[in-house]
Formats: sequence, structure tokens, C-alpha cells
Amino acid sequence: MNDLTFEDYKIMVEEHITDFMPDVDQKSITLYEAMKYSVQAGGKRIRPVLLMAACDFCGGRAAEALPYACAIEYIHTYSLIHDDLPCMDDDDMRRGMPTNHKVFGEAVATLAGDGLQSVAYEVMQKDMLLYFDDPEALKRRVKAALEIVKGSGVKGMVAGQIADMEAENKSVSKELLDYIHLTKTADLIVAAIRAGARLGGCNEHDLENLTVFAENLGLAFQVCDDILDVEGDAEIMGKQTGMDAEKMKATYPAIYGLDESKEKLKQLTENAVNALAEYYDNAELFVKLAQDLATRIS
Ligand code: IPE
Ligand code: IPE
Ligand code: MG
Ligand code: MG
Ligand code: MG
Repeated sequence: MNDLTFEDYKIMVEEHITDFMPDVDQKSITLYEAMKYSVQAGGKRIRPVLLMAACDFCGGRAAEALPYACAIEYIHTYSLIHDDLPCMDDDDMRRGMPTNHKVFGEAVATLAGDGLQSVAYEVMQKDMLLYFDDPEALKRRVKAALEIVKGSGVKGMVAGQIADMEAENKSVSKELLDYIHLTKTADLIVAAIRAGARLGGCNEHDLENLTVFAENLGLAFQVCDDILDVEGDAEIMGKQTGMDAEKMKATYPAIYGLDESKEKLKQLTENAVNALAEYYDNAELFVKLAQDLATRIS
């Protein structure tokens, strides 16, 4: 693997994150402003960085993965805008700023989410149009886009979000808790890594190892998010804390308690790192990212 760091990839994402958002008609400028507001509000950019790093790891070129990296960040941002709506988690702060609906109202926020989702598909399909005379390159792109569509869709993130909503105020089995966390959060993280790997032209063996890494990382990421909702600093995280308990959400701390949740986070991180053991130092970015995410404070 090259020696680019998380920060290097993140800079690439930041430099190009609005490049793929189409100019809209002046009459719908509010939609554009609302979409841009949330996309530019910041965020850790974990999914696009993972996608580009996985592309490089598998022998591709990260710059060519940018449309897909930005697409997955648009989809993630849409999911946050909708997640924060009063009809869902009803949150006031996101990425250190008032949530989209607090600034633009619920109708515009709903449409900004819809808009970001459609822009994501547009970006990927426009990119595919450029490769009609190169069937191998086109195939890789079609497969990458499918990973993203599936991970964010009705058997992935959206499925997880409805299960999360329906689990509020209920006692939930450990099995259902894992289903919620794997679908609402891990599936998009898995999609980021698999899409990047597909773009890079990975072989089946590497794809399998990267997938095991991503599943464990993705679940660890949501367990950590749950823990931070209990004991994190809202100022540092840029979003409210204590909301899960208030809404009686199905979370790891609610079902396992804080100590056991932290143990599970450690175990999942170890599993993620072990999945890439055969690559030694070549997988350093992924290994470091997993370790850093387990101890993150934002
Ligand atoms: C927040 O995701 C929603 C979850 C899946 C837990 P992130 O923690 O990646 O949010 P940003 O993109 O950094 O704001
Ligand atoms: C969010 O889970 C998952 C998605 C947005 C798909 P949470 O509801 O726990 O995320 P936060 O805590 O609001 O960021
Ligand atoms: Mg939620
Ligand atoms: Mg939420
Ligand atoms: Mg949360």
C-alpha cells in the first residue's frame, strides 16, 4: 500500500466534495443551499476515505474513485439529515451546527436528503458513461455502484433505520440489536470498503478479508457511537448526547451495560485488525483507523 494517511485522503475528499453537485436552477436554489449546508458542515469523512484507501490497497487509483467516494458521503449525509428529523431522532445539533431542519425547516430538509441521494446516483452513473469503450473498467464501476446502492438500501441502511425506529421503547433481543447496528451503520461502511476494492480490481481473497475487517469495524463504530452518547462530550462531538436513553433506543450500553459494551468494542476492533493480519504493514492505514476509532471522542 502507498504511505498516504487518513488525513491525506480526507484532504482529497474536502477539496472535491462539492465538485459533483450539479448546478440547480435558480428557482430551486433553496434545495441546493440546504444540500450544501450539510455536506460542507464537516464530518469525519470516514466512508469516502475508506473507499479511496481500499481502491489504492487493491491496486487502483484513488483519484479515479473520487466520484464514488463523494457519492457515499452524499448518501451518508442524507441519512444524517433524515435521522435528525423530528419524526425520527429529533436532534437539534449535527456536525457542530444546527441540524438541517432547524435551519431550513422540515420540508426542505426532507427534500435536501432526497436530493443528495439522487445526486449520489447521478455522479456514479455519469462516471460510468465515460467507460463504455473499456468493458473491464466499466464492470468495476457497475459493481462498485451496486455495493453502495445495496449497502444504503432496503436491506442495508434504510432497513436498519426502520428497525431502529420500531425498537424504540421496547425490550430488544441481542440478536435484533446486532441486526439494527449491522444494517443501519456497518452496511454502509462495508459498502465503502467493498466499493473501493471493486474499483481497484481486487481479487476474491482480498475482498473477503476486507469484508470481514469492514463488518467488525462497522459494528465497532456504532457500539462506540452508543457509548459516546452516554459518556461523550456534546461540544466535542458536535451533536447532542443522552438522546438514546431519552428515546429508549436499542443500544449496546442499554442492553449490555457500559463496561461490557467497552469490552465488546475492544473485541470487535481486535477482530477487525486480525482480519488483515496477512498483509502486515501494507494495511497500516486500515489497522490504525480501527484502533483510533475505538478510542475516538468525536
Ligand atoms: C454518524 O456517523 C452516524 C452513525 C452511523 C453513527 P459519523 O460519526 O461518521 O458522522 P460524521 O460524518 O462524522 O458527522
Ligand atoms: C445513525 O445512528 C445511523 C444512520 C444515520 C444511518 P444514530 O441515530 O445513533 O446516529 P447519531 O448518533 O444520530 O449520529
Ligand atoms: Mg438514529
Ligand atoms: Mg440519531
Ligand atoms: Mg447515535
